[in-house]
Amino acid sequence: MERIFIAVAWPYANGPLHLGHIAGAYLAADIFARYHRLKGNEVLMVSGSDMHGTPITVRAEREGKTPAEVAQTYHQEFLDCFKKLGISFDLYTSTETPNHYEVVKDIFLNLYHKGYIYPATVPLPYCPTCHRFLPDRYVEGTCPHCQFDGARGDQCEKCGHTLSPWELKHPHCILCKTTPEEKLSEHFFLRLSSFQDELSKWVGGQDHWRPNVRHFTLGIIEGRLQDRAITRDIGWGVPVPVPGFEGKRIYVWFEAVIGYLSASKEWAASRSRRWEDFWQGEVKSYYFVGKDNIPFHTIIWPAILKGYGGLNLPYDVPANEYLTLEGKQLSTSRNWAVWVPDFLARYSPDQLRYALATDMPQTHDTNFSWHRFLRLNNDELVGIYGNLAHRVLSLIHRKLSGVVPAPSAMDEESIRLIDKAKDTLKVVDRDLYHCRFREGIRQAMLLAGEANRYLERESPWKNEAKLPTSMHTSLFVLSILAVALLPFMPSSSERLHHLLGGEGKPERWEVIPPRVGATLPPPQALFTKLEEGIVDEEKGRLNSVYTIHL
Ligand code: MF3
Ligand code: ZN
Repeated sequence: MERIFIAVAWPYANGPLHLGHIAGAYLAADIFARYHRLKGNEVLMVSGSDMHGTPITVRAEREGKTPAEVAQTYHQEFLDCFKKLGISFDLYTSTETPNHYEVVKDIFLNLYHKGYIYPATVPLPYCPTCHRFLPDRYVEGTCPHCQFDGARGDQCEKCGHTLSPWELKHPHCILCKTTPEEKLSEHFFLRLSSFQDELSKWVGGQDHWRPNVRHFTLGIIEGRLQDRAITRDIGWGVPVPVPGFEGKRIYVWFEAVIGYLSASKEWAASRSRRWEDFWQGEVKSYYFVGKDNIPFHTIIWPAILKGYGGLNLPYDVPANEYLTLEGKQLSTSRNWAVWVPDFLARYSPDQLRYALATDMPQTHDTNFSWHRFLRLNNDELVGIYGNLAHRVLSLIHRKLSGVVPAPSAMDEESIRLIDKAKDTLKVVDRDLYHCRFREGIRQAMLLAGEANRYLERESPWKNEAKLPTSMHTSLFVLSILAVALLPFMPSSSERLHHLLGGEGKPERWEVIPPRVGATLPPPQALFTKLEEGIVDEEKGRLNSVYTIHL
């Protein structure tokens, strides 16, 4: 038995989730969690809504709402989306809980007393027109690394570099476009520079990390780590636990990553479990995050953990790259996105999970297009996997009164297919163990394709002598598919498991041989075809004004 801690990026509660979020972090994390549970490992998967910071306050100001209102609205919507999509968190909480405030305060004071956090007075951008400091997203300008002209004061959305407002070229206040002035303000800094050597050694030793994650991180470390301000002139967020800083708040990035620990503590407290079981000793911690979150999980969070001491560092940060939409970068501000609530109003979770797992941006950016979505659904889900299940189950009903046959004699073809099926279970196992999600789902679908070709060759509908063996063999394949595809598409796997005469859902990563003599329930289609017309319809919806969300 292994213990696996699965930490998933905390989405900002400042707008609906889109397919990029799901492809970037949530789907991979859920596949991984479901896989490990099937393997009999002990899993804790946590995340929550990131309720603080300028992403929330900027939106609230634009809409004339309080930051709390904005954050709560989207937090509720996220809960609903994750539930419908089947993202099986053990706890999905938020950063707006008394427990989280406590844990953040504890870590802040611990590092402060050790000298890893220190105060300093620094010149910060101040808008003379609005009479306020302009933290992070209140300043925009041109990225010094990639020249993207919509870069924000905290990070460039385009190239992923983290920034400080002063690094931007042509900075301006997002509210009134004025060029900010410098004004002094006292803030706390995280002494990242003192972790330079330790982090460099630690990251250098992580040979099992994805190359893109490791290189990106090493690049930043080799450029030398700068101490970073971890408080802001803002009125919304976790208070600074030091007198004299009443008008300031802890920077969302320092605070949000602590959510992994506070969520674990909240989970443990509500279930009479020990959070330490997932933070100390023999545990592997995986952090599923999108590309733009890499440095926070491979540098800042590890530095905080090292400074605090006694807690495990990430074992892996299998960050995904970006998903593009119809060939263009997703953008919330330009409304170039497919929003999860809209998607789920028209399609099923497994259709989405299949498309995003098959084309997951694991090692390079991948594209979501409605045309591809339609083809994946109609040609693969319906045409290969669904077709196999339907053919076999309806033939058993038509010709064998729905009773699972014993094989008459195992011929070479059938033995080969059974071996291939057993082998597939092992191959998918290895792929999922190593976070190779695309490869895993591909292998399972190859098996389904192989079984379809076997059926064509055997043609038991023409040759009844072949019925018992070919049906028995096909049921064997289907029961393996129900297990191997469960992490990817839990609800269709459960339906298939039921159609194969099982109860509940598959509980173990193992072969369930056909139940000879059992009567199977009446066959039902696992998936439904989509009309070709949805492609144009959906493309027409892109970029149109969404009344609910914007
Ligand atoms: N809310 C941030 C983002 O969406 C941070 C997510 S990860 C966290 O980019 F752990 F830091 F919260
Ligand atoms: Zn201004």
